[in-house]
Amino acid sequence: MATYNYSSNVVVVMMMICVSCVVYAHKSSDVPLAEGLSWSFYDKSCPGVESIIRTKLKKVFKKDIGQAAGLLRLHFHDCFVQGCDGSVLLDGSASGPGEKNAPPNLSLRAKAFEIINDLRARVHKQCGRVVSCSDIAAIAARDSVFLSNGPDYAVPLGRRDGLTFATRAVTIANLPSSASNASTIVAFLATKNLDATDAVALSGGHTIGLSNCSSFNNRLYPTQDPVMDQTFAKNLKAICPTNNTVATTVLDIRSPNAFDNKYYVNLMNRQGLFTSDQDLYSYSKTKDIVINFAVNQSLFFEKFIIAMTKMGQLSVLTGSQGEIRANCSARNPSKDNLASLYEDVDNLSAF
Ligand code: HEM
Repeated sequence: MATYNYSSNVVVVMMMICVSCVVYAHKSSDVPLAEGLSWSFYDKSCPGVESIIRTKLKKVFKKDIGQAAGLLRLHFHDCFVQGCDGSVLLDGSASGPGEKNAPPNLSLRAKAFEIINDLRARVHKQCGRVVSCSDIAAIAARDSVFLSNGPDYAVPLGRRDGLTFATRAVTIANLPSSASNASTIVAFLATKNLDATDAVALSGGHTIGLSNCSSFNNRLYPTQDPVMDQTFAKNLKAICPTNNTVATTVLDIRSPNAFDNKYYVNLMNRQGLFTSDQDLYSYSKTKDIVINFAVNQSLFFEKFIIAMTKMGQLSVLTGSQGEIRANCSARNPSKDNLASLYEDVDNLSAF
């Protein structure tokens, strides 16, 4: 490993001139790092990676803050299916349809995939093909939280991209349904070593973004869920007047675009959108956690960072496993053909 003998004065000067360096308030040192990940992975190979991504996402979100929700959910869907290996980003191949074609992923935003590939092209243009698509997705999810007024936090890096994607059946089996009750959600997340606090904190991702009627119609038709606040139900029925209306509504009625703790206030007012959300306030193992987050936003942020850091390390590939994709939606061709892929780093999209 290379060593650097900077004199302490040089280090001080470098720190002073490093105005574009991002200093993160929170590093979740409570969470052990997966082997092969580190807090400083690209410090030498691509020191600008995080500022390239944040600078671009600031512009993207200025035009459409909804994209933040799309990117946060994309990272979750990546990590829960086969680990955070960028497998959700892959297009299908001769071996079958990709994860993105499986039902739970059909409502991921098409633009989220484009944004990740655009960020990849920008990063690779500056540093070469050293940063993985799965790391870019993890950083983009963090920036989506921060740029929606949520907390900032450091993301351990060094993930590599997977060579395969999961089947439709495996994808469905690993993404819980919004019609599940809280005990099912907690039990399912436990299979991924996430505890009840993690389950409640991660569900707080529903403080931003949109849902289709089909994801909560089970609570309106044929009979209305008695737990649901009456006015809230009436308004939802106006948006989704039949069991098969195609429309969307916000996940957090109090502050739809802000990453805050209002989601938990909604639950306490019986205004959670999904069964899987609202039931967190009924289930004995999660009710007090909901209340604690509703009254204490800093506590929510602290637990959210811990839960995201755990989720972001699920079954990661590191070291010599997997690869660094030259295009996030396709695995690399054989080594001989790789050079031909470099032309696309000059082909940055305009959004
Ligand atoms: C715990 C189990 C979870 C269930 C059952 C669930 C389910 C859903 C469903 C059904 C939607 C709406 C899809 C649609 O109809 O368009 C949604 C949206 C969303 N979910 Fe989750 N989710 C869960 C966990 C998470 C986690 C862990 C995060 C991130 C930390 C997250 C972030 C989001 C976001 C940001 C959206 C809005 C996406 C957009 O506007 O494009 N969800 N979720």
